[in-house]
Amino acid sequence: MANSLQGSISSSCNIPIRSNRIGILDSEIPKSSVSFSSQLPNFSLKYSEKGRNGQSLRTSATVRAEMQVDISLSPRVNSVKPSKTVAITDQATALVQAGVPVIRLAAGEPDFDTPAVITEAGIKAIREGHTRYSPNAGTMELRTAICHKLQEENGLTYTPYQILVSNGAKQCIAQALVAVCSPGDEVIIPAPFWVSYPEMARLADAEPVIVPTLISDDFLLNPELLKAKITEKSRLLILCSPSNPTGSVYPRKLLEEIAEIVAKHPRLLVISDEIYEHIIYAPATHTSFASLPGMWERTLTVNGFSKAFAMTGWRLGYIAGPKHFIAACNKIQSQITSGASSISQKGGVAALGMGHAGGEEVAIMVKAFRERRDFLVKNFRELPGVKISEPKGAFYMFPDFSSYYGSEAEGFGIIKDSESLCRYLLDKGMVALVPGDAFGDDKCIRISYAASLPTLQSAMENIKEAILALRPAGPV
Ligand SMILES: Cc1ncc(COP(=O)(O)O)c(C=O)c1O
Repeated sequence: MANSLQGSISSSCNIPIRSNRIGILDSEIPKSSVSFSSQLPNFSLKYSEKGRNGQSLRTSATVRAEMQVDISLSPRVNSVKPSKTVAITDQATALVQAGVPVIRLAAGEPDFDTPAVITEAGIKAIREGHTRYSPNAGTMELRTAICHKLQEENGLTYTPYQILVSNGAKQCIAQALVAVCSPGDEVIIPAPFWVSYPEMARLADAEPVIVPTLISDDFLLNPELLKAKITEKSRLLILCSPSNPTGSVYPRKLLEEIAEIVAKHPRLLVISDEIYEHIIYAPATHTSFASLPGMWERTLTVNGFSKAFAMTGWRLGYIAGPKHFIAACNKIQSQITSGASSISQKGGVAALGMGHAGGEEVAIMVKAFRERRDFLVKNFRELPGVKISEPKGAFYMFPDFSSYYGSEAEGFGIIKDSESLCRYLLDKGMVALVPGDAFGDDKCIRISYAASLPTLQSAMENIKEAILALRPAGPV
């Protein structure tokens, strides 16, 4: 801003300077040469003029910049809500920095370190000079490894040209929405949903169409409701299994029913977000939507390394689908970020080399997640008035606390909704959780159990104490 001002009023200019919307505070400026120093909003102005006797006078004035800048934002940005997960995580971090021992269970990231075989591959990549731009779509080495994985683990056949590697699965999903949606198209999203889906749809000028699910149905999409929501504007259905925030896993049979409905609508594509694929608790099993009859042609399968391989900071994900769609995503990526980090991609190759579903090391992490899940399920079941659906995958639980809404907390006030409940639990219980409202279901709150068992034990004690201290509005 300062530069543009300095550019528009150069060291020598004609007065009146007010025409440049500069307010003169100390004095009026005569017609003479002026020079600026300093930055907006206040800056000093030195100028010289000839005195009555022809002598050179130097004086100065303090000037307030009033350059009018249009600060309006694109309607696209205005339609997007900020992420509540980020907001609550930031609030909890600020409290921790201020010395408050907050237990943070809001973030969606594993508490494990990236396995050593992956970090070593990253270090080796740097040492060996793999530090240059990589191909836009991802290195052929990684895309080939991804094709192999999809074939072996998911029964999906792709060539490397049907794979696009991006800076995280998040980028894959955002690009896919932009690539296939026309303005006004509808994107069908079962709720509870991952916070970013509806906002990404809006950024793509599409309209999110939310289809609610019930905790008593384990938050799984009811095919009849889906049928009722499909219109000629429906362009995409977004499925997420295992799910963030509920931990639900779609059984194959239900996916088949959904596929049958989808198959009747040539315009309807599916994004299948399978990023939690490996974090699944037997007997639940994972089915890739694209592997169902007739679905390969219309499905964009998204996956990534952040969750199963504890690689959130490496920013690495991928999308697989028919070449026509992947080429469109590739084109978008080529104009906004180019290829993903060359170092991370070497790490990704190492991750895919760890064995089926991540091998022994990922199995150890999944076992720990399962123990934590079991601990939480048992404890939430004991809490009166709280409804749960047992998570079958991922590392989240989404209990329904709505029977406590309307209760009063001493020194806090009324618990109205998921947001006030989370604020109360942060205040009173010093536990950071995310309001279900952010995921499209205000009855629930999300607890991320990507934390050690002792941490979860302390959190549970605090939550119980805070909840039991509420004065119920009615019978719970
Ligand atoms: C359901 C789901 N999809 C996609 C992502 C994005 O993952 P990343 O961009 O780290 O690969 C996340 C991250 O929280 C997620 O929970």
